[in-house]
Amino acid sequence: MGKGYRFPLFPANGLAATMTVSMVSLTAIYATSTGHTEYVLQALVPVLAKQGITVTLRRAETCAPEDLLVGDALLLASGTWNTGGSEGQLHVHMDALLNHRAKDIELREKPCVLIALGDDRYYYSCRATERLMQFVLHHGGKPLGSPLLMVNEPYGQEEKVRKWGEKLAILLLAA
Ligand SMILES: Cc1cc2nc3c(=O)[nH]c(=O)nc-3n(C[C@H](O)[C@H](O)[C@H](O)COP(=O)(O)O)c2cc1C
Repeated sequence: MGKGYRFPLFPANGLAATMTVSMVSLTAIYATSTGHTEYVLQALVPVLAKQGITVTLRRAETCAPEDLLVGDALLLASGTWNTGGSEGQLHVHMDALLNHRAKDIELREKPCVLIALGDDRYYYSCRATERLMQFVLHHGGKPLGSPLLMVNEPYGQEEKVRKWGEKLAILLLAA
């Protein structure tokens, strides 16, 4: 990853110089019902964009398995739901993508970043993070950094997203 493009610079003193600009693309696939997960991503995108990272947002229900392979890195974001009748599961659209349509995908060591949402009133609070991590590990992905866990409503937690995003940008640019 971290494709570096070298641009020639022509400073006033006439000496030749070059500047390396990193171009990294991240495909962020997410599912949401309340809009919470989307809100977190909307807070994250400008933080990454500021560091030159291009983010393509995709809703899980519109994705085919091969969409997980697009871009330099993959971000998966899901709230924790009672999909299938028991709590602690992925959002139904993320579950349908990862555990059904893309159940045979090979991620080929692709750097994978995770965001999980949940609520501390539930026993399996934020368990989506484990479901997402299991998917990445079982399909040959390479986890990048620590997952972002958003417990309870994301409103008012923008600073947490910003700090996590800044660390993520460093990892993405170095990977
Ligand atoms: C029916 C239902 C089941 C839920 N189950 C869990 C759960 O098992 N664990 C948890 O931490 N949060 C649970 N939540 C909370 C959601 O994960 C949380 O509200 C999240 O922010 C929703 O974001 P989203 O709409 O973007 O998916 C549940 C919410 C609902 C309405």
